[in-house]
Amino acid sequence: MLRRVSPLSKLISAAKPSLLNQGAYGLNFLEAFSTDASKPAEAGIVSKARTPTINFVLGGPGVGKGTQCTRIAETFGFTHLSVGDLLRKEISSNTEYGAMILETITKGKIVASEVTVKLLKTAIESSETDRFLIDGFPRSEENRVAYEQIIGIEPEVVLFFDCNEEEMLKRVLHRNQGRVDDNVDTTMQRLKVFEAYTLPVIRYYSQKGKLHKINAIGTEDEIFERVRPIFAK
Ligand code: C5P
Ligand code: MG
Repeated sequence: MLRRVSPLSKLISAAKPSLLNQGAYGLNFLEAFSTDASKPAEAGIVSKARTPTINFVLGGPGVGKGTQCTRIAETFGFTHLSVGDLLRKEISSNTEYGAMILETITKGKIVASEVTVKLLKTAIESSETDRFLIDGFPRSEENRVAYEQIIGIEPEVVLFFDCNEEEMLKRVLHRNQGRVDDNVDTTMQRLKVFEAYTLPVIRYYSQKGKLHKINAIGTEDEIFERVRPIFAK
């Protein structure tokens, strides 16, 4: 079992249909891309001399993904791409997606996969490096399928920072980063989204034997020491 039974489960099944924002453009996700799952992803990462190495980092809000990614990236020479940060950059740069992303993040929902994967692809292609830690993605099965269709590079490692909801809520409310979504209501929503949409992705990678579950309770150093052996190969 990847998780304990949460008292939020009942709430989630009631709230589930409204948690995503996939139709933000009236673009049906599966129409936006090819529906032919057997078709390999476009050779879009063509600017790269070598196929990039991709690792995904998942975990609920406030679990410390960003903090640990910084440590992992410094120690093992990865480029850290936080998908939340890529989205927030669209808001601050006031791009065509900015207003929609702000609204979605403020509600604690998931941004349409066609937008997120496009931003991620651009970030990977425009980086001079070829070893990436992708933080906060894929957040949903739709994110994952869009990634497979558009980028299509199999992740080497999928890290899952595991922590109880009470602790995650506490950490979010104490971090003082001035984020629009770091309040009680939005964080409760993000916890529901995590359980309803991200846990299935975590289960998927667990079944594929790619998942490394890390106990995210402890000091920053203690948690990093749990991660280190995974990359110190
Ligand atoms: O990962 P982080 O906590 O920075 O993400 C903040 C918010 O960005 C999420 O709650 C969600 O609204 C949005 N997001 C998203 N899709 C992702 C990653 C983040 O919609 N793959
Ligand atoms: Mg983060």
